[in-house]
Amino acid sequence: MTTKEKIEELRRRRAEAMLGGGEQRIAAQHNKGKLTARERIDLLLDPGSFHELDMFVTHRSQDFGLAEQRYLGDGVVTGYGLVDGRLIYVFSQDFTVFGGSLSEAHAGKICKIMDLAMKNGAPVIGLNDSGGARIQEGVVSLGAYADIFLRNTLASGVIPQISAIMGPCAGGAVYSPAITDFIFMVEGTSHMFVTGPSVIKTVTHEDVTFEDLGGAGVHNSISGVAHFASPSEPECLLGIRHLLSYLPSNNVDDPPIVAIDDPADRQEMALDSLIPDSPNQPYAMHDVLNAIVDRGSFYEVQAEYARNIIVGFARLAGRSVGIVAQQPSVLAGVLDINASDKAARFVRFCDCFNIPIITFEDVPGFLPGVSQELGGIIRHGAKLLFAYCEATVPKITVITRKAYGGAYDVMSSKHVRGDLNYAWPTAEIAVMGVDGAVNIIFKDEIAQAQDPEAKRLELVADYQSKFANPYIAAERGYIDEVIIPHETRPRLIAALEMLQNKRDANPPKKHGNIPL
Ligand code: HXC
Repeated sequence: MTTKEKIEELRRRRAEAMLGGGEQRIAAQHNKGKLTARERIDLLLDPGSFHELDMFVTHRSQDFGLAEQRYLGDGVVTGYGLVDGRLIYVFSQDFTVFGGSLSEAHAGKICKIMDLAMKNGAPVIGLNDSGGARIQEGVVSLGAYADIFLRNTLASGVIPQISAIMGPCAGGAVYSPAITDFIFMVEGTSHMFVTGPSVIKTVTHEDVTFEDLGGAGVHNSISGVAHFASPSEPECLLGIRHLLSYLPSNNVDDPPIVAIDDPADRQEMALDSLIPDSPNQPYAMHDVLNAIVDRGSFYEVQAEYARNIIVGFARLAGRSVGIVAQQPSVLAGVLDINASDKAARFVRFCDCFNIPIITFEDVPGFLPGVSQELGGIIRHGAKLLFAYCEATVPKITVITRKAYGGAYDVMSSKHVRGDLNYAWPTAEIAVMGVDGAVNIIFKDEIAQAQDPEAKRLELVADYQSKFANPYIAAERGYIDEVIIPHETRPRLIAALEMLQNKRDANPPKKHGNIPL
């Protein structure tokens, strides 16, 4: 063979690899409203930046007729490239080859880029579209999954790991995405479940559709498994690019600083009239957040799950921050099981990756109720407490209104190493709400009064003026400063600058034992 012919041979092989499972299966993929593995990578990465690895890898199986069915790449496209000029590693499962199912060789390719990502300190993005373990390979394929799970776990907290579910994701295959930091799903075409509808029908006799069992809707609003839902694949891939813009490449890097045209000293006067006079009246916390952070920078995570707490990324003077905020307009912003889980995981992510946490607090306490107690609100609430206690990134708190009971302690209070704790003059920091407190501590006095209701109102007013304010906490230094709402943005920006070289550490240990 001449050199020219050898180059031609390489070109021919490359062209074959590009076709995956062939034209017909690519057409079938498009007919389902899905893109191919390579089209997805093109949309995810900066144009022309993709470098593919292992294009010619094939499986080594002989059984069940597999010896005659070999496809270059073996159902996954892997490599590295750039997002906004920053290095990332990517694998993209190719459903046109054995339904994207995972063989030993397929997993080997994924493990190779994960190892590179760990050595070079860059995020891994997994685009999942797979029928799960390659059935013909049996236990070899199960072992190959475990090789990935192990790497996901070792990489956790070292490099950001993001999963997009862009097709079926069944069986143990869901557990690799589940260990990663964020899961994106595409509405209508992506599904995640441990056992599918037909197995469920056999075992529990329940009838359920793919969508109701594992669609983007249920995992984003009910199970809390997923973090983002997108109406289409291109929007999902853009979402991943956007999320990456807030994140550092690894746990010893700082998040990128972005140039912004929103003045650091901008004061939003509307904030001064946003808190209603009545403590029982809700307001939209999103209005507070959007008025304070860099314009348009708030990117909410798990927007549809446990809506009584808001978590997401934003920027202040171009620096990434993680926001945790109660939502008074949903369940009065109470802390329940799901809100605790959601916020705890987010706080831990920020702490892993050097992202300061800003907490906006308006919390009437933990949700009372039999189902909450039996569901383990003690254990779940403790996760959030643990997460805030162990976090060593800069922690800044703004109490906008209620900070009652144990929830006051939990939400990044001074006592759990809050660095700067601000309160608005509308803050009410107490063991419990005014009415409840008066009814308990003055029960006999009210009952014995000539006019019990008048007595109660008098005691409520007295308690209100004594305790339902930020000044007792400020007198003790639990609150560093009481600020006028419109001052919040410049205060937070100054605080972040002051804390940018913060050094804090936890005692040496293998790892803590968060109450899971
Ligand atoms: C090998 C597979 C496969 C698999 C699909 N294919 N899944 N090949 N192993 N797991 C092949 C099909 O034979 C077909 O090949 C092609 O992929 C497309 O599959 P279709 O069934 O035609 O597509 P569709 O109708 O869209 O259905 C997709 C599907 C279905 C829902 C994923 O294929 C399915 O249910 N597959 C099996 C899912 C499953 O039970 N996996 C094992 C889970 S257990 P041709 O040649 O026709 O194109 C598991 C354990 C992991 O994953 C444990 C880790 C701890």
